[in-house]
Amino acid sequence: MTEHTGRSYEGKAREYARKVDTSPYNAYYERPAVVSLLPDVENANVLDAGCGSGWYAEYLLDHGAIVTAIDLNADFVALTEARVEQRAKVLQADLSQPLDFAADGEFDVVLCPLVMHYLKDWKPPLREFHRVLKSRGVLLFSTHHPAMDWKLFNREDYFAVELLEDDWKDFGKVTYYRRPLTAISSDLASSGFLIERLLEPQPTDEFRQVHPNGYARLSKNPWFIVIRAIKGPK
Ligand SMILES: C[S@@+](CC[C@H](N)C(=O)[O-])C[C@H]1O[C@@H](n2cnc3c(N)ncnc32)[C@H](O)[C@@H]1O
Repeated sequence: MTEHTGRSYEGKAREYARKVDTSPYNAYYERPAVVSLLPDVENANVLDAGCGSGWYAEYLLDHGAIVTAIDLNADFVALTEARVEQRAKVLQADLSQPLDFAADGEFDVVLCPLVMHYLKDWKPPLREFHRVLKSRGVLLFSTHHPAMDWKLFNREDYFAVELLEDDWKDFGKVTYYRRPLTAISSDLASSGFLIERLLEPQPTDEFRQVHPNGYARLSKNPWFIVIRAIKGPK
C-alpha cells in the first residue's frame, strides 16, 4: 500500500465536476493530447482509473469500449454512475491498494488521466496496472509535468519526490506529489512497461480564444505530460 492525497477531493467532487468538462486546461489542453494517444477502443476492455466525474468514461463508451470506471471518492463514483447510467461498471476503489475487482489480463487499456500525482509511490499501482493488462496492453496516463511543479514551487532539489500543497483558485487546497522524469521512467521500467510515446502538449486554438493569457503561458511552459506505455515482460 502507498500513501496518497486523493482525499484532497473530499467534499469538492461536485465543484470539480461543475468545471472540468469545460475548463480550457482540460477541454483544450489535456484531453486533446490524451485522446490523440488513445488506441482504437471499439470493443476494447478499458479501465478508467480515477474516473472523477466521468468525462473519459462517457467518451470511451461513445467510442465502443467496454468500460470499468473506478474512483476513490464516493461522490465521483455517484457522478460517473449518473452520467453513464447502466453502460459501464463503476466502482469505488483505491489505486494505492490491490485492484481485487480485476482479473489478470482483463483489460486492453488502462487510462489514468491526472491521477498519478496523488500517489506517493507509483510501483504498487503500476504493478497492478501491469497485472490487469493483457500482454502488449496500453497504459495511457497524464500527470503534472515534472518541470512545472519544480518551477512553480521553486524547489531546491529537482530530483526529490516530495509532497506539495497547492491552493487552486475557487477550489481550495489540494496536495500532491512532485517527482522527476527519471523517477517516472524508472518506475515504469521496473514495473514492466515500455514507454512508447511521450507528449508535452500544446494548448489548442480554442484555448487561445477563451483564455488568451493561459494560452500564452502554456505555449511556453510545460504543464502536463502524457505518456503511453506498453505492457512488456517483467
Ligand atoms: C484531477 S481528478 C481527474 C479525474 C478524471 N480522470 C479527469 O481527468 O477528469 C483526480 C481524480 O483522482 C482520484 N484519485 C486520487 N487518488 C486516488 C486513489 N488513491 N485511488 C483512486 N482514485 C484516486 C480523485 O478522486 C479524482 O477523481
